Amino acid sequence: MTATTADLFSLRGRTAVVTGASSGLGARFATVLAAAGATVYAAARRPDRLRELADSDPGIHPVVCDVSREEDRERLVGTVLEHGGRFDVLVNNAGASGAVRAQDESSGDFSDVLAVNLVAPFHLARLLAETPSDHDGTKSVVNVSSVLGLVSGAPLGGAAYAASKAGLVGLTRELAGQWGRSGIRVNALAPGWFRSEMTDGLFADERSRRWVERGTMLGRGGQQGELDGALLYLASDASAYCTGQVLTVDGGWTAR
Ligand SMILES: NC(=O)c1ccc[n+]([C@@H]2O[C@H](COP(=O)([O-])OP(=O)(O)OC[C@H]3O[C@@H](n4cnc5c(N)ncnc54)[C@H](OP(=O)(O)O)[C@@H]3O)[C@@H](O)[C@H]2O)c1
Repeated sequence: MTATTADLFSLRGRTAVVTGASSGLGARFATVLAAAGATVYAAARRPDRLRELADSDPGIHPVVCDVSREEDRERLVGTVLEHGGRFDVLVNNAGASGAVRAQDESSGDFSDVLAVNLVAPFHLARLLAETPSDHDGTKSVVNVSSVLGLVSGAPLGGAAYAASKAGLVGLTRELAGQWGRSGIRVNALAPGWFRSEMTDGLFADERSRRWVERGTMLGRGGQQGELDGALLYLASDASAYCTGQVLTVDGGWTAR
């Protein structure tokens, strides 16, 4: 039987976890996956924001969780399994940015960024891999990296942030290699510059905004919704033969 295009991107019957879903890209990702039919567990630290998101869509369930804490990560996955017994899609989106100048970043601060951006994605992916599977190839991990994991962002960016996002690319390839034959696909999404709480200051500053526009082939930052297709592609069967890859959605920032 030939799948229709809509079937290809459908997440009906699947259960997804989106971390960092209380704002920005993560809140949008939760909505996109729910619209494709998934039951979505939206995780972050701010309960009010999560409640607001869940109130907007019956397919979204809030779970308050600090992903830098191992016990919170285990509780998150425990909650998901308790409710439906499935865990098919993991979007490792929660992210923290550190200081921009390396001289201003202590090794403790550096570790804190890695705990959220790299250690948590690894552990959550392992928890997904450990959940029972019917080996139907539906498990998909999407690690939200960044163009700053691919190229230097100096004079903006930050050492811990860049190292964590580049680390996610290595982690993506390694886990894809280890788990491919178990039917678990692992890919990374590398966005360019999108306005969010994390980048508000940058877009509000005229010089920085112009710097983004100058370096982007399309001449502008990304707009809300311009990651929807890429996210849905990686999460769904549309990318059934794609693993270990980085999908860069950056208006041409890294193509120069
Ligand atoms: N915006 C861009 O231009 C851009 C470009 C490339 C990559 N990215 C990546 O995209 C992802 C989303 O960023 P964004 O731009 O949407 O920024 P954002 O609005 O600041 O979102 C960051 C999210 O991460 C969550 N978070 C931070 N620390 C957490 C923790 N310890 N435990 C649980 N959740 C935590 C925050 O929720 P709470 O504070 O409620 O916990 C928030 O929901 C990040 O990984 C970022 O690095 C963004």
